[in-house]
Amino acid sequence: MPKPKRHIVICTNTRAPGHPKGSCGEKGAQNVVMKFAEELEKRGLFGSVVLSGSTCVGVCSAGPIVIVYPDAVWYQGVKPENVNEILEQHILNGKPVERLVVPDSAWG
Ligand code: FES
Repeated sequence: MPKPKRHIVICTNTRAPGHPKGSCGEKGAQNVVMKFAEELEKRGLFGSVVLSGSTCVGVCSAGPIVIVYPDAVWYQGVKPENVNEILEQHILNGKPVERLVVPDSAWG
């Protein structure tokens, strides 16, 4: 297998309903994982793009969080309907979907 060009990391951490921090899992992250997997498969991108879930990456209130490496672009509030746009605009054409990027103000 050739070295992958991109790595998509999706926070799938789940906390109990009502937890004050909330969680990406509670907000539907698993559906986002499934949509990315389905679209990567359809486009024959498995191998050049790696998809993986992660535990909490720290910005829970903005979830579901999707991170694209090697660019280190962090997306917030990602829904299954955003997946095609991220794949076509960013993964295939190198231009992040700016309106979904975690703003600088989110970082302390
Ligand atoms: S639960 Fe996803 S960032 Fe914390």
